[in-house]
Amino acid sequence: MTFPKCGTTWMQEIVWTMLHNPNLDNPKEDETIFLRSPDLSYDMIFDSKSLGGSPIKPIAERFKEIHPGKEMDNGVMADILEALGGPRVIKNHFPFPLLPRDILDTIKVVYVARNPKDMTTSFWNFYSSTNVHEFRGDIDSFARLIMNDGMIYCPYWPHVMAAWEKRHHPNLHFVFYEDLISDIMHELRKINEFLGAGLSEEKLEAIKRHISFSSMKSRAGTLPGNPFKKEQDKTVFFRKGIVGDWKNNFSPELQEEMDQWIKKNLTDTDLNLSWALAE
Ligand code: A3P
Repeated sequence: MTFPKCGTTWMQEIVWTMLHNPNLDNPKEDETIFLRSPDLSYDMIFDSKSLGGSPIKPIAERFKEIHPGKEMDNGVMADILEALGGPRVIKNHFPFPLLPRDILDTIKVVYVARNPKDMTTSFWNFYSSTNVHEFRGDIDSFARLIMNDGMIYCPYWPHVMAAWEKRHHPNLHFVFYEDLISDIMHELRKINEFLGAGLSEEKLEAIKRHISFSSMKSRAGTLPGNPFKKEQDKTVFFRKGIVGDWKNNFSPELQEEMDQWIKKNLTDTDLNLSWALAE
């Protein structure tokens, strides 16, 4: 579970690999992540005109296998999820308040949060460079849409806070993208324990290499990016995978504006993002 551009795909690949590919020899690894770890909200976006009004090919094909002859007008994802072998690894951008209240009684949730300034930078780049979204404004106007709850999956703060408040629940694992970047082995060990995957240190080391930015980028064909990119030869999804790229993109005015927005929204909360503010 994430707000978009906070490390969703990275975590999907980590969790799917731990649960379904611990020896890195599962042939399903070559299947698109859209099928290995389907997106709960996919139906909400799949009839986009740019996508031709139908799901991407592998999803449409899987649906036809499950339900030959059935129309796809009422969405496909519920059927695809139902037919998926367990344990199911489900991608989801919806926040807790839009999900069943008792969801943590029955499923484990990994929530990934990221500095909202890097999220905004990543989101703007992604939306500006894909066929599906074709955002045409500058980063300032995009950031203001985020801050004014005008972008898909907003409002941002209730999304993060709803998960943060549940972070002590045994079925919720809350992790920052920045912590994954700074000490991936430490975080992999914690996720291993949370999922009950029981993987050895040696296996975690191998998984660490498998889920590195460069390794995942080399498998971009099975990971998001391809159905979305504007230019066929460009991988828009695996962009930089670093912390602090907002500094290369934000004007001093936008930095100030977002810092104020962060501070205002964290007043009276116990979530401290002082590290995310401008020095
Ligand atoms: P950038 O655009 O800053 O490079 P999401 O999957 O939620 O859409 O997040 C996409 C962001 O996660 C992108 O950030 C992408 O590069 C980054 N990312 C994907 N895989 C990664 C990995 N293995 N290591 C680090 N960052 C990764």
